[in-house]
Amino acid sequence: MTDLDQLKTDALTRIENAPDAAALEALRIEFLGKQGSISGLMKTLGGMSPEERQVQGPLLNGLRTETADAIAARKEVLENTELEARLAGESIDLTLPAPEVPRGSVHPVSQVMDEIAEIFADLGFAVATGPEIEDDWHNFTALNMSETHPARAEMDTFYFPDRDAEDHRMLLRTHTSPVQIRTMKAASANGGEPVRIIAPGRVYRSDSDATHTPMFHQVEGLAIDRDIHLGHLKWTLETFFKALFERDDIVLRLRPSYFPFTEPSVEFDVGYSNEGGRRVVGGHGDAEGHDWMELGGSGMVNPRVLEFAGFDPNEWQGFAFGLGIDRLTMLKYGMNDLRAFFDGDGRWLSHYGFSPFDQPTLSGGVGARA
Ligand code: PHE
Repeated sequence: MTDLDQLKTDALTRIENAPDAAALEALRIEFLGKQGSISGLMKTLGGMSPEERQVQGPLLNGLRTETADAIAARKEVLENTELEARLAGESIDLTLPAPEVPRGSVHPVSQVMDEIAEIFADLGFAVATGPEIEDDWHNFTALNMSETHPARAEMDTFYFPDRDAEDHRMLLRTHTSPVQIRTMKAASANGGEPVRIIAPGRVYRSDSDATHTPMFHQVEGLAIDRDIHLGHLKWTLETFFKALFERDDIVLRLRPSYFPFTEPSVEFDVGYSNEGGRRVVGGHGDAEGHDWMELGGSGMVNPRVLEFAGFDPNEWQGFAFGLGIDRLTMLKYGMNDLRAFFDGDGRWLSHYGFSPFDQPTLSGGVGARA
């Protein structure tokens, strides 16, 4: 056997037996690396006579190619074995319990907003939305609150810095009532058509104590048609509260009030009783152990507002109401601290939150009572 044959047999055997990728790489460097034995032999070709080189050249080239091929083949075998071993070791036991994944929950306010939308959908009201960053005109002027109207001062408005822009200076809406204007303007653009909407959403006032947060939630209601009167308003609110609180003994009290955008204006209260420190809605507010709780404001849409929004007040009229969703939520689900609503405390949320997969649905909705 020549030295070359010996080297080849030796190389191929060791490659064939390399136990793992690291050992194989060490062999590649030993034979084919810059300082490798086969590379060294290749270098000797330069010093040979042409005749010698003609013989040795093909032999050495063949040796180099065969060695490289053997390494590649061994590499593939090793990789396959490694993969198979890993797959065998990684088999999944489907009978094992899965680790628990933390799950989000539906915030009680979102839950009640959904319930409100569901009830009013039964009554034929669509959901409308408007921007939370509003302009002066939609939030005040078109609602019959001129620049100098005292009601503006009571609203504790957050204004944006540019206060000079008159009707177009921007603010955080102080109520959901500007959605009335936006909806009516859209409906009056083509000559006027009946409107039935609710507008739930966030509103902002510069106010903060145990019962007030600078951001809170309201839902606006608006019905415009040719023959709407206060009786429709009362029936709608009563029907709504009965469905929301899931009880038939809801008693509503309307009290004369004042809002620039409604005429006449009424505030509405519900009767409730105190049961073990908890307010429970139901019953007549003047009955033994009962009292009244104010829930919101409402009234017939002021003709001036209809005009601002492009409706002819001689032909159209309507009612509007606005109520606080946060208070409603506290009442319905027996919570007592408003500020906890917006603390973002995961423990509070997992206690009071609702599962997105297991929504408590209202028993039958409005239709079932009709
Ligand atoms: N926007 C009034 C408020 O925030 C509530 C209201 C709405 C009153 C619609 C009458 C009609 O206090």
